[in-house]
Amino acid sequence: MSTLVRDYKAGEVIFRQGEPGRCAYIIESGRVQVSVRKDGEDFPLTTLGEGEIFGEMAIIDRLPRSATATALEATRLCVISQDTLTERVQNADPVVRLLMMMMIRRTRNMNLAAGGGSDPRRGLVQEISVLAKEAVDQVRFESEVKLAFTQKEFRLNYQPIVRLDNGQTVGYEALIRWHSPSMGVVAPNKFMSIIEESSIMIPVGRWITEQAMNDLNELHKAYGPDLFMSINVSPRQLVDPNFLRHLEGARMKAGLQPGDIKLEITEQIFVQGATIVSLIEECRKLGYKISLDDFGTGYSSISYLKEMALDVLKIDQSFVRGVMSDDKSKNITQVVASLANVLGLDCVAEGIESAEVAAELAKMGCMYGQGYHFGKPQPLSHYLTQKIKAAA
Ligand code: C2E
Ligand code: CMP
Ligand code: CA
Ligand code: CA
Repeated sequence: MSTLVRDYKAGEVIFRQGEPGRCAYIIESGRVQVSVRKDGEDFPLTTLGEGEIFGEMAIIDRLPRSATATALEATRLCVISQDTLTERVQNADPVVRLLMMMMIRRTRNMNLAAGGGSDPRRGLVQEISVLAKEAVDQVRFESEVKLAFTQKEFRLNYQPIVRLDNGQTVGYEALIRWHSPSMGVVAPNKFMSIIEESSIMIPVGRWITEQAMNDLNELHKAYGPDLFMSINVSPRQLVDPNFLRHLEGARMKAGLQPGDIKLEITEQIFVQGATIVSLIEECRKLGYKISLDDFGTGYSSISYLKEMALDVLKIDQSFVRGVMSDDKSKNITQVVASLANVLGLDCVAEGIESAEVAAELAKMGCMYGQGYHFGKPQPLSHYLTQKIKAAA
């Protein structure tokens, strides 16, 4: 089905009950009657008007058309292809998908009760039960994650960021961990997307900020005031109208300067719109440093560099990892390091796992590095006991 718009005359049948579904429709103008047929007689179910969608059921549950659709007057329809609709449904959250399947099943039951022929629904049962399991697992995991926050099961670890020329630690990145009583230590890639998609990102983000700032204050006491703290900030936190007020409040309470804090943002932030971009600019005007994380993994990175004043570019570990083994990664890393230098930005290479890679990056003009070679993310206590040991 390639034409996007189709016109029908009054009385014209759009499709018949029992046919396979090939596309769905949105009514741009006109009216459509939906009816089921039994014993040679039509039973009207409903009349649909402008802006309503129909013909979606057979696409979503892949069963035959549940009813016949007829134009009641001159009608213009926008055609939505099977692929377009299926792709969207498959990308939807499992709970939303389950909801759609159940609503369709109920409508089919209703139509059967109104006289619409034989029951074509077997086969669907298994699909719905698989979907239901997925939805239940997701809902359960989400509520566990939310509960974990209220039960104070999240902790921050800190990973050193070092100067590549002399190995000196200049700051740390705060990285969240979930200490689950049942699952052990859970990495953020297992649960942060759930938090980032929900409004609890705001209280969780505030907790991260406060904790990381208070811990930087402890690190300052142990190692001097030059160390900085990098804090990952997700787009969801920046829609909070009180973000800046909270950030400033937490900073002052911890006795820090704005320049002690680097806010790590990703290119995702630029997609969120001008308000968020200007909020970041406001932070920068106050003296906070802005670090662009995972550089090169998103879209049109170079244009974003023009859009906003930044302080740091972080070269993503996917490039750093291949520096010794693959020419493409090596060349990209080199280009990003040069780009940072040309633009007057600090450059941090992430995911450095060996001395060779560290040396190679230093040769490329990358000033700073972070990775297991220098230190894994560790709790604050690790750094404080290290200090005590060094003093003894
Ligand atoms: P990220 O910001 O890119 O963090 C770097 C990740 O690389 C961390 O994973 C770190 O442990 C890991 N890493 C560091 N050095 C090495 C290395 O040498 N080799 C390897 N293989 N990995 C290394 P982690 O802690 O699991 O965090 C994953 C992601 O979760 C972070 O990626 C960040 O996007 C998100 N995240 C972590 N903590 C927070 C947080 O407090 N707030 C927000 N909004 N996101 C967070
Ligand atoms: P589908 O089964 O693909 O084809 C017939 C369409 O009519 C169906 O999708 C729905 O869009 C619509 N439809 C079927 N039954 C009803 C109903 N009871 N109420 C409203 N719309 C219906
Ligand atoms: Ca980061
Ligand atoms: Ca990163």
